Amino acid sequence: MTSPAHVAIIMDGNGRWAKARGLPRLAGHRAGVEALRNTVRAAPGLGISFLTVYAFSSENWSRPKSEVSDLMGLLKIFIRRDLAELHQNGVRVRIIGDRAGLQPDIRSLLEEAETLTVRNDALTLVIAFNYGGRDEIVRTARKLASAVARGELDSEEITAESFAGSLDTQGIPDPELVIRTSGEL
Ligand code: FPP
Repeated sequence: MTSPAHVAIIMDGNGRWAKARGLPRLAGHRAGVEALRNTVRAAPGLGISFLTVYAFSSENWSRPKSEVSDLMGLLKIFIRRDLAELHQNGVRVRIIGDRAGLQPDIRSLLEEAETLTVRNDALTLVIAFNYGGRDEIVRTARKLASAVARGELDSEEITAESFAGSLDTQGIPDPELVIRTSGEL
C-alpha cells in the first residue's frame, strides 16, 4: 500500500485530553506540540511529502485571551527550539494563513523559518496559522482585484489554475488524508 503524499492534521482534542487528566488546557496544547514533533520526525520515513497542521484557525481568536496568548507562545517556542532540527532533517517550513493579523515578532519568526528552509525537500511542513479556507480565498480575490485595478492583470486571465497559483497553498497538492487528533470524524 502506498502512503498518501499529503496528510493534514487538525490539532483538536487537546483541551479534552487535559481535562480527562485533571490538567489545565495549556498542558493539553503542550502535549499536542510534542505529538507534532514526533509526527514530523516519522513522516519522511512513511513516504509522506507534505504534512499540514491546522494549528490556529481564524475562528480561534474568540477563545479566552489567555488561551490565545498561550497558543501564540507555543508557536514561538516551537519555531525557536525546533527550527535548527527541522532544517538539519531537510524539512521545509511553509506557513499558510493571514500574517497581517499576527504580532510582528511572530511574523518575523515565521519568515525566518521559511527563508532558512526554502531549499529543503525531505518533507514540507505546512503550518496553518490564523488560517481559514474562506479567508484565504477572500485575500486571494482581493490581491487579484488590486492587480486588475492597477492594470497589471486582465480579468480574463484569471483562471482556476492562475487562481490556485495565487493562494497561500500554491504548489501544495490537496491533502489525501485528514486526521482529527480528537478522534472525531
Ligand atoms: C483545538 O482543540 C486546538 C487548538 C486551537 C490549538 C492547537 C495548537 C497548538 C497546540 C499550538 C501551536 C502550534 C504549533 C504548530 C507549534 P482544543 O484544544 O480546543 O480541544 P477540545 O476540542 O478538546 O477543547
